[in-house]
Amino acid sequence: MAVIVHPLNIYMCLFFVVSAEMILTPSSLICQDMVKLSRDRRAYEAHRSRDNVVKPSSGSSPSRGSVFATANSTSVAAQIGGTAKLPCIVRKFNNGVVSWIRKDITPPTILTVGLGPYIADDRFMVEHARHLQNWDLVIKHVRPSDAGLYECQVSTHPATSIFIELRVTEASAEIIGAPDLHVRAGSSLRLVCTILRSTEPPVYVFWYHDQRMINHDVGVSVTIDRTSSVLQLQDADTTHSGNYTCDPANAIPAYINVHVLNATEEENPAAMLHASSSGISTALFMTIMLIVAVNITFSLNS
Ligand SMILES: *[C@@H]1O[C@H](CO)[C@@H](O)[C@H](O)[C@H]1NC(C)=O
Ligand SMILES: *[C@@H]1O[C@H](CO)[C@@H](O)[C@H](O)[C@H]1NC(C)=O
Ligand SMILES: *[C@@H]1O[C@H](CO)[C@@H](O)[C@H](O)[C@H]1NC(C)=O
Repeated sequence: MAVIVHPLNIYMCLFFVVSAEMILTPSSLICQDMVKLSRDRRAYEAHRSRDNVVKPSSGSSPSRGSVFATANSTSVAAQIGGTAKLPCIVRKFNNGVVSWIRKDITPPTILTVGLGPYIADDRFMVEHARHLQNWDLVIKHVRPSDAGLYECQVSTHPATSIFIELRVTEASAEIIGAPDLHVRAGSSLRLVCTILRSTEPPVYVFWYHDQRMINHDVGVSVTIDRTSSVLQLQDADTTHSGNYTCDPANAIPAYINVHVLNATEEENPAAMLHASSSGISTALFMTIMLIVAVNITFSLNS
């Protein structure tokens, strides 16, 4: 599934570019994308490995006979604008009442008592099903200020509690190949947008071409899953050039500039060079120059 770009391929690309004597043919654009793709993948993987929704901390698993089935010091993550669910499964009840308390603010604030709210903020509610024994605290439209420590307390004698940590993440979109993508007229345009640091699937993902929403345009197909969306457009022409936006619910949007190059431009290396020069990294260019310089020196000496 992961796209693996072997360093050798990148050197092969450099070789093609050099052997084409600095004329920027479409192969160099593929190289550019390959270099970017490998970098984007690494960044994406690094982000993903940091996101885990529920992580009970070590050494505090519930023991037999304890009141709670949820591990003490469990950590939960929720994205800004999303819904957080802080677990609290109470096994032994003894007619106690379950309360949720925000613990890390002064004074500590009681949020819910039993099934009822205790503060005038309807974002907080308790989710309870008798057969599940759960008394989860649900927080809707999560804000950065909701991050912190929460206590699930059972008023047995003496009262007993577990603590749940809520971490709040800020989801953001990223389009593979950004900031610039070059495609040939007549080919299909495929944009892959990944959503980083999200804790729930997006309710929607809107795609814009410049200012216009294009999800339902003829010839356009959009697929959405838990952490990504793919826009596909058959038979691109020069009118499809422009700024594309991937705008998922509850995430920072991402942009990419798409350049559709018609046949005339393709046969004219000068136009291609102009169109793609902004996207070529200086490092890649310097490497090419170096290889060319070495080759010239070598042929002069022999
Ligand atoms: C959970 O941990 C806190 C402190 O880390 C402790 O005061 C509390 O008693 C623990 N709860 C249970 C049920 O062990
Ligand atoms: C693309 O459009 C968005 C919103 O319309 C804008 O914020 C962004 O700066 C644009 N990007 C470029 C490179 O023009
Ligand atoms: C191709 O691009 C050139 C330069 O941008 C333009 O003058 C020409 O009209 C385009 N041809 C077609 C068929 O779109």
